[in-house]
Amino acid sequence: MIKTKIIDLIKKTIGNDIEVEISIPGNEQFGHYSTNVALKLAKIRGENPMKIAESIKYEVLSTKPNFFEKIEIVPPGFVNFWVSEKVLQNEFENIYKSGGKWGKSKNKIKKNIVIDYCGINIAKPMSIGHLRSTIIGQALYNILKFSGHKAIGDSHLGDWGKQFGVLIAAYKEKQKDKKLKDISLEGLMELYVDYTARMKNDSKLEDIAKEEVKKLQSKNKENLKIWKKFRSITFKELKNIFNLLGVKFDHQLGESFYNPMLGDIVSEALRKKVAVKSEGAIVIFIDDDKTPFIIQKSDGAYLYATTDIATVKYRVNKFKADSILYVVGNEQTFHLSQLFNAVKKMGIIKNQEMAHIKFGLVLGEDMKKLSTRGGKHISLEDVLKEAIIRAKKIVEEKNPKLILKEKEKIAKIVGIGAVKYNDLSQNRQSDIAFQWDKMLNFEGNSGPYLQYTYARLKSILRKSGFKKFNSKYLNEKTEMDLILKLEEFPLVIERITINYFPHYLADYLFELAKLTNSFYQSLPVLKAEKEIKKARLALIKAVANVLKTGLNLLGIEAPEKM
Ligand code: ARG
Repeated sequence: MIKTKIIDLIKKTIGNDIEVEISIPGNEQFGHYSTNVALKLAKIRGENPMKIAESIKYEVLSTKPNFFEKIEIVPPGFVNFWVSEKVLQNEFENIYKSGGKWGKSKNKIKKNIVIDYCGINIAKPMSIGHLRSTIIGQALYNILKFSGHKAIGDSHLGDWGKQFGVLIAAYKEKQKDKKLKDISLEGLMELYVDYTARMKNDSKLEDIAKEEVKKLQSKNKENLKIWKKFRSITFKELKNIFNLLGVKFDHQLGESFYNPMLGDIVSEALRKKVAVKSEGAIVIFIDDDKTPFIIQKSDGAYLYATTDIATVKYRVNKFKADSILYVVGNEQTFHLSQLFNAVKKMGIIKNQEMAHIKFGLVLGEDMKKLSTRGGKHISLEDVLKEAIIRAKKIVEEKNPKLILKEKEKIAKIVGIGAVKYNDLSQNRQSDIAFQWDKMLNFEGNSGPYLQYTYARLKSILRKSGFKKFNSKYLNEKTEMDLILKLEEFPLVIERITINYFPHYLADYLFELAKLTNSFYQSLPVLKAEKEIKKARLALIKAVANVLKTGLNLLGIEAPEKM
């Protein structure tokens, strides 16, 4: 890579004791690449930064005079580099040769990274909040794997706790009426809501629910059977959505899985003197006077917190996790920060990374909280179906000649892609809106725009084949810009492995697509002179590869036709 070559050149002149950072200014005026290392060095050595910058320029140029088109020094001490056409042409050959593997990392330290995402709660329809966790989590999973790490995807199911006492009680009540043959998730949720409402004014109902959860916890056969039924109804119904979204997990270890370990966790915390008894409960004080992290209530019950500690321990012991990423909404920030502190205090976590990959809410068209129709929650499946229907209308307009089956296939790819891209193209920490027209706009920063660009490139490539090409025929400004952009791809991936923002990749792909579109709008490809045509087709092929790889990493399909 050009960037590493420049870093090596600089290191030869200034030595190895300082890290050389190279940035891509993104503005021609400040060079293809730029470094502030002279400024950093000047501080350490107490010297004049401009002088150091000058000497870097001089040394680098004299070791490799042909590598650069020019090098400029800019006060107070920046060094800006423009690489020569020849270097870009050669680099393009490397990019082209690596095909779909461009950007894939080879020799980095391989970490075991557990990604905790899509922790849906069973016996409930999937919420829109879990949609974000799923989309972001799956994209990070793909990207981390692509960059050479071992990604371990684990969906931390909410499948245990006192709510199942309520649900079992409500279920048994209904069972008497024999109306329960084919109950849906929606139906289960209604049972739950109805029972909870009645429970408020009727302590008898509450007692029954408590009794049922006790029985469940002591492995009463009948209750266990009902609970298993809740699980299977959930998975059966959600299979559809998971298929649509194309998500897969390595593990789905729910809260129930950790239940048998919770007693030991509490004793361990007490033994290590991390936890104390406080007002009958067992708690971990994180910062002395702040809200404590409760791990056992005075009635003996364990909590979400206790399960989460057990989960960390399991992930460290069994998965040998070097890093655990929680793709969970902003609203759990406090819980997770307490968890991270607690497991460090307990010595379960030593040097491993614990990170909360936060995300904001999903809002409606008007940027207000998604309103629920008549008090009902919004069905995720309906949202995804709506995306597909809307996409189909557009596909029909754009390409009426396609056969129906093909239209339907493309509509699915475009509709789901639009939903995912809408999410992943924005900083995950902000709230996002479901603005259909924007999401499905073929001209704007949208999934369909990128997919359409890809399909167009593929259609050009179908029209003309080529075997060999010579990169010296690539020398127009837009061609150089495109090569530089392709060169940036591995760096974008690397940045995401450091702070886990998938929108870096979305932004990058959008810029790549825009550059590509202006490239083939301004220069002939199929009609160009023979050698030029072959080189331009090669460029198109390399761009198509990166677009496809990038979209796929985001979990978005790249259609050959549209
Ligand atoms: N089931 C939880 C919820 O819906 C999310 C689980 C997140 N993961 C975790 N380890 N706590 O809020």
